[in-house]
Amino acid sequence: MDLNLQGTTAVVTGGSKGVGLATVRALLAEGVRVVSGSRSATTELLATSAVPVLVDLSTPQGAAELVRRALDELGGIDLLVNNVGIGDPAESVRKATATVATLPDEAWADTFNLVFYSALRMTRAALPSLVERGGTVITISSAGARLVSAGPFDYNVSKAALNALGKVISEQYAPQGVRAVTVSPGPVSTDVWTSPDGFIARLAQAQGLEHQAFAQQLMDTMGSSTGRITTPEEVARLVTFLASPTNITGAEYLIDGGLIKNL
Ligand SMILES: NC(=O)c1ccc[n+]([C@@H]2O[C@H](COP(=O)([O-])OP(=O)(O)OC[C@H]3O[C@@H](n4cnc5c(N)ncnc54)[C@H](OP(=O)(O)O)[C@@H]3O)[C@@H](O)[C@H]2O)c1
Repeated sequence: MDLNLQGTTAVVTGGSKGVGLATVRALLAEGVRVVSGSRSATTELLATSAVPVLVDLSTPQGAAELVRRALDELGGIDLLVNNVGIGDPAESVRKATATVATLPDEAWADTFNLVFYSALRMTRAALPSLVERGGTVITISSAGARLVSAGPFDYNVSKAALNALGKVISEQYAPQGVRAVTVSPGPVSTDVWTSPDGFIARLAQAQGLEHQAFAQQLMDTMGSSTGRITTPEEVARLVTFLASPTNITGAEYLIDGGLIKNL
C-alpha cells in the first residue's frame, strides 16, 4: 500500500532508540526526510539518514532549538511525532515507590516537563509550519493513561494530560488542516523492559527479584489478551499509517495486546 509519504518531512523526538528509532526507520523507508531530537545519538541512529539534533527536550530551549534546526534542515514540517516521554530509569524507580503524599512538586515538575511540556512546546513551535503544510501531530502516550493508579502514577497522570492535549490540538487546528492523533502502547520491548539498566530491571532489583522473572510476572498480572509484549516496530507501523493522508483526527489508538478491557 502506498502511504503517500514520499518526499514529506518529519521531526521525531527521542529518535535515538526504542519506539522513536523504529519510527525514524519506518518513516525513512517510506521516503520521508527525518530530523530526530534526543540528548545523545546512538550508533543505530547515526547509521540512518536521519539528521540527529542533540537537545534536552525537558527544557523550553531544547524544543525551540529542535524545531529551529528541523526547519533549517527540512524547509518545513509535515509530521511531528512527539515520542519523548519516559524518564531516566533510576529516577523513575524512586518515583514509582512514592505516594501522592510523598512525591514532591519538583518530581511532578520533572515528569510533566518531559512528558507533557515537551510535547506542548514542540507542537506550539512547529504549528506555524504544520498549518502552512496541512501537517499532522502524532503523540505517543501510554495505556497507563487509562490505568492511572497502576505503576508510576506521576507518569500515568502526565500521559492522561497528554491525551487531553491531543483532543484540544485536534479540535483547534482541524479547521486549518492539521490532524492530531494519539498512540497509546502497552508494554513495548525497548530498553525500558529489556535492558539490565532499564526501568523494569531496576524495579526488580529494588524488590530483590530477578529481572526476567519479574518482567514476566508483571506481564501476567497486567493480563493482556495476547499475552505478549508489543515490539517498537509494531508501534512504528501504526504511527506511519496514521501519518498518511486520512480523515482520522482527535482519536487515540491503543496498541496493547488487549490490555485495556473497558470500552
Ligand atoms: N517501552 C514501553 O513499555 C512503553 C509503554 C507505553 C508507552 N511508551 C512510550 O513510548 C515512548 C518511547 O518510549 P521508549 O520505550 O522507546 O523509550 P526509550 O527506549 O527509553 O527511548 C527514549 C528516547 O527518548 C530520548 N530522551 C529521553 N529523555 C530525553 C530528553 N530529556 N531530551 C531529549 N530526548 C530524551 C532518549 O534519548 P537520550 O537518552 O539520548 O536523550 C531516547 O531516544 C515514550 O513516550 C513512552 O512513554 C513506552
